[in-house]
Amino acid sequence: MVFKGAETVRPVRFWEGKRVYLRPLELEDLERLVRWFTNPEVTQYLLGPRWPLNRLREEEWLRNLYRSNRDLVFAICLRENDRHIGNCGLHRISWIDRFAELGIAIGEPEYWGKGYGTEAAGLLLDYAFRVLNLNRVELHVFATNERAIRSYRKLGFQEEGRLRKRRYVRGTYVDEIVMSVLREEWG
Ligand SMILES: CC(C)(COP(=O)(O)OP(=O)(O)OC[C@H]1O[C@@H](n2cnc3c(N)ncnc32)[C@H](O)[C@@H]1OP(=O)(O)O)[C@@H](O)C(=O)NCCC(=O)NCCS
Repeated sequence: MVFKGAETVRPVRFWEGKRVYLRPLELEDLERLVRWFTNPEVTQYLLGPRWPLNRLREEEWLRNLYRSNRDLVFAICLRENDRHIGNCGLHRISWIDRFAELGIAIGEPEYWGKGYGTEAAGLLLDYAFRVLNLNRVELHVFATNERAIRSYRKLGFQEEGRLRKRRYVRGTYVDEIVMSVLREEWG
């Protein structure tokens, strides 16, 4: 909840589930994003760049985010207290082929393994298939990220391929797994 003088401004609950909801990111979220995406405990699982992230670069990214119609990112928030615990998004959306790449990170490790990420990814798929009319959502994940793979399987993602030793993570090369779910397979 954001307090502005005497007025209480409730965040927009754009797409709501049982325990979490998705809302657009705001500039006020910036410090939190920088904290999450410079935390090695979080970034060890992510496929993004390995160089340091600074506030300026993240602010530029955030300011440009909703100008693109190829990338759509949401904040994941808890319904019970509006706490922003992570982000999820659809990237490189192809409006002709009707597919996109899903990305997700719960940035607060205390909320891992509690089903919030799985619920948020499910909400995002629902939005992707039922509102955006996409036909396929795909993703890439490190083969060592068991929790993420289990979460994606629960949502109906199937493994399509394994890119052998594609990523260098903490001193060893790890395989990258490609998964996808089709609209016809979704609820
Ligand atoms: C990946 C992520 C989105 C999954 O969301 P989540 O809400 O934490 O997942 P869940 O709590 O639903 O757990 C998914 C499954 O993994 C299992 N699991 C939980 N912790 C685990 C662990 N440490 N190792 C292996 N499996 C684990 C759960 O038991 C569950 O399986 P089950 O339903 O068969 O019991 C979230 O953990 C996250 O953001 N992690 C850090 C960043 C990341 O990995 N992003 C994905 C990059 S591709």
